Amino acid sequence: MKMETRVFADLDALSRGALEEMLRVMQDAIKRRGRFAIALSGGRTPAKLYALWAQAEKHGVKTPWDRVHLFWGDERYVAPDDPLSNYRMTRETLIDQVAIPPENVHPVPTTLPTPENAAEAYEGELRAFFGAAPPAFDLQLQGLGIEGHTASLFPGSPALDEQQRWVLPVEAPAKPPRRITFTPVVLNQGRNTFFLVAGADKREILAALRDEPDSKSSQYPAARIQPAGGTLWLLDQAAAS
Ligand code: 6PG
Repeated sequence: MKMETRVFADLDALSRGALEEMLRVMQDAIKRRGRFAIALSGGRTPAKLYALWAQAEKHGVKTPWDRVHLFWGDERYVAPDDPLSNYRMTRETLIDQVAIPPENVHPVPTTLPTPENAAEAYEGELRAFFGAAPPAFDLQLQGLGIEGHTASLFPGSPALDEQQRWVLPVEAPAKPPRRITFTPVVLNQGRNTFFLVAGADKREILAALRDEPDSKSSQYPAARIQPAGGTLWLLDQAAAS
């Protein structure tokens, strides 16, 4: 499988490098398919990238926002304005700063009565947008947890072996526990997949991933994400060394 690694001095440099690659993928997707559908990740690491994307215009890089569609690869089952909401983080760093049409923003509907309702409705939204086959996002951004989780697929989760559903509600051993996540059915389709990994606390899990002999059945969810388009790992020095 195609896997490339790039190491940057720090999170700033990593975020600039990720933005450059992301804009390249965006331009290519728009040229070929007329739109750019991206699955965003949550957590702390991508915030800088989102803020840089919002500011890119000032540096002469135009994003055709009417062609960009924002989705989330996972979300916490909290209100959209909750401090733990991945949507809230993206809204503050990116969405509120740019002229993206509201209908191009596709948050997980966490205001529905149950996580199962939210997951089902989000899968419905994906089907309405992409059609019947599992969607191939132009770009999916992934994070990496210290125990190997990515999106909200944690080690040992039954969602890892899902063969049908695109989106599932899960109970995660993390705060908050109730989450909604894309399953590998979707995550293994991505045309481009970037893993953004920063900080010394990710060093050990990265070393463990490097030593994985057979990743498709790996105990580490991140290692099971192997789309045909390959994966690009963007690391900072602290995580890589
Ligand atoms: C989430 C995520 C999650 C995240 C990793 C890494 O909603 O929590 O999308 O998979 O990407 O936990 O998070 P950090 O970037 O904060 O280390």
